[in-house]
Amino acid sequence: MDSRTAFDGFGDFAGRTWLNTAHQGPLPLDAAKEAYEAIAWKLAPHELTGARFEDVPLPLRTALGRLVNARPDEIVLGNSASYGLHVIANAYPWQEGDEILVMAGDFPSDLLPWLMIERRCGARVVRIQPRNHVIAPDELEGAITPRTRVFCTTWVHSFSGFSIDLDALGAICRSRGVAFVVNCSQALGARPIDLTRAPVDAMSCAGWKWLCGPYGTGFCWIAPQLRERLGRVKAYWLSLQTAEDLGNEIADPVVPDRQGARSLEIFAPANFFNFKPWAAAVEFLLGKGIECIRDHDEALVEHFIAGLDPDRFEVLSPRQKGLMRSTLVFFSHRDRARNRAIHAGLSQAGIDIALRGGLLRVSPHLHNSSGDITRTLAVLNESS
Ligand SMILES: Cc1ncc(COP(=O)(O)O)c(C=O)c1O
Repeated sequence: MDSRTAFDGFGDFAGRTWLNTAHQGPLPLDAAKEAYEAIAWKLAPHELTGARFEDVPLPLRTALGRLVNARPDEIVLGNSASYGLHVIANAYPWQEGDEILVMAGDFPSDLLPWLMIERRCGARVVRIQPRNHVIAPDELEGAITPRTRVFCTTWVHSFSGFSIDLDALGAICRSRGVAFVVNCSQALGARPIDLTRAPVDAMSCAGWKWLCGPYGTGFCWIAPQLRERLGRVKAYWLSLQTAEDLGNEIADPVVPDRQGARSLEIFAPANFFNFKPWAAAVEFLLGKGIECIRDHDEALVEHFIAGLDPDRFEVLSPRQKGLMRSTLVFFSHRDRARNRAIHAGLSQAGIDIALRGGLLRVSPHLHNSSGDITRTLAVLNESS
């Protein structure tokens, strides 16, 4: 695949350049078709047959299962990254004095579920202050105590673009008996993961960034050994029976003893407005090949970093390709006070990037081309 060309299958962005996937990934046209069909069903509800209704979650679980190499029945559909993290935090069998390790400065989704548990259950949240944006193996090693039960962190840090060493941190958690919970929202879709090999006990991910789904989508996966230790926090009728069953004699509901992934799923999993297009978006990415997308995205990142005028700008994310670099690139004018005006100038020129914490961030994905990067560099390098 020629990394200079964008993958086709997207709209025309109204002539603009969207370099802000870390905020919202664009919906592929195949997925938009599914959304229009879902609207047609709801415009004439007789179209929303029992079979169509029931068929919504399965293709999505199947596509997500292929994406992470997990069985579809182990995929827990949700509406965000927070959803899965809250399920785990709420259902974990906490004991007084248990410790939860998190990263100081992480995205709030990775902190709040555990801070809520701290208030409620007598467990303690311990923040590790990383030396270099994300937690290094020795920092994790030094923070684990006999009371540590869970370590939760992001895979790619939203506020710096640094990536953790997933394998090294996971191996430490394995060797110390700590559950390793990873938020993959800024990584999955731009890089592969194989959950049969990755030393991860649970992962959660938003669906609307690198997975190009509608807003209000997400999923999580919890290793069966961890899932079996979780307490019951939900009992949803539609995870126990079908809407069609209501046509038969109405039975008294019972909470089953066994907790499968489905019983942890978000309520209303036949959410056809969102899940039908999202399934098509994930299938679209799988069809292009996640490794091909990664190579394409990495080439765009390389192009951007190499082309930025070093007299005017500094790159704050890792410059060199490798474990720590991601598809989020933070940079700044050498006079940081100028960043806001530069952001506005790019927007006026039809180029959308993010301003986060006073710094500039680009996050290119498969819809972007080398030409998008060249155009952005031209505007930036001409700014005073
Ligand atoms: C690492 C990370 N997690 C999660 C989210 C979104 O939060 P949620 O899915 O919990 O609403 C973002 C969005 O910006 C993010 O960067």
